[in-house]
Amino acid sequence: MEQSLEVRVLSRPQIMIGIFDSGSGGLTVLRAIREVLPSCDVLYFGDIQNAPYGSKSSEELSLLTTKALIFLKERGAQRIVSACNSVSASLALSLFDVFDLDSTQVIEMIGPTVAYFKGFSGRVLLCATPATVRSNSYQNAFRMIGKDITTISISELAGAIEFGQSESDIEEIITNAFENVVWQEGDVLVLACTHYPLVLSLFRKIIPPFVLIFDPAEAVAERVKKQFWPQEVRDGTTHFVISKDSEQFRTLVSKIFSDINYEIEVLALPLVH
Ligand code: DGL
Repeated sequence: MEQSLEVRVLSRPQIMIGIFDSGSGGLTVLRAIREVLPSCDVLYFGDIQNAPYGSKSSEELSLLTTKALIFLKERGAQRIVSACNSVSASLALSLFDVFDLDSTQVIEMIGPTVAYFKGFSGRVLLCATPATVRSNSYQNAFRMIGKDITTISISELAGAIEFGQSESDIEEIITNAFENVVWQEGDVLVLACTHYPLVLSLFRKIIPPFVLIFDPAEAVAERVKKQFWPQEVRDGTTHFVISKDSEQFRTLVSKIFSDINYEIEVLALPLVH
């Protein structure tokens, strides 16, 4: 009896999820994924050497995405989560073909986020990096559900968070970004950069209390669970690879994932041309 159970468990398809971001932002998505899928094996790539991504052109982002996908696939990831809005906004469907991935094997930030707002009648404001706003991906996706949104592009914020600038500097960046916004009762502010929830308390300090702040991480994690289950069952290992060592990253990981075992590896990836 026990043996047949063992055979069944071993023969179940086992997958590893590859998650990537420019650095620490994707940790907010991984945190949400760990809540719903504690037993999936995860390989997380944070490209700190090339951060921030949000000020890069779509051509540069395509190269960096290609590099990250090659790496994650080589290391055995069969499912991919783009835990970076700037990358998600510039993801070309053709990339999936090149990497033998189909759309069911890749989850990005925009689809699950926008789907969450179907039927919502209030005003949506969305703050993100210049790369995300410039791509128009969110604006177009929201239009498909009949919604026009207001976007606020914040150029220095993700980098300031990634490289550990002081709280007062970060607060000033957020304050300046919203100085011209006239808030209304019932507004929702979408944090469409995965770095931003890391300073949620500073957003909360500046944005009026009657505005709801939406972190897409949960919606993305729910999508991961729905789409990748039940193949996620493994040992629940967590392996981080960063392209440049960072005390800031190590400290954040130890705070967010204090209750799980993990490894951090530093590895500069070769450039792809
Ligand atoms: N966290 C990423 C995003 O969601 C990248 C931010 C950056 O590196 O500029 O857009």
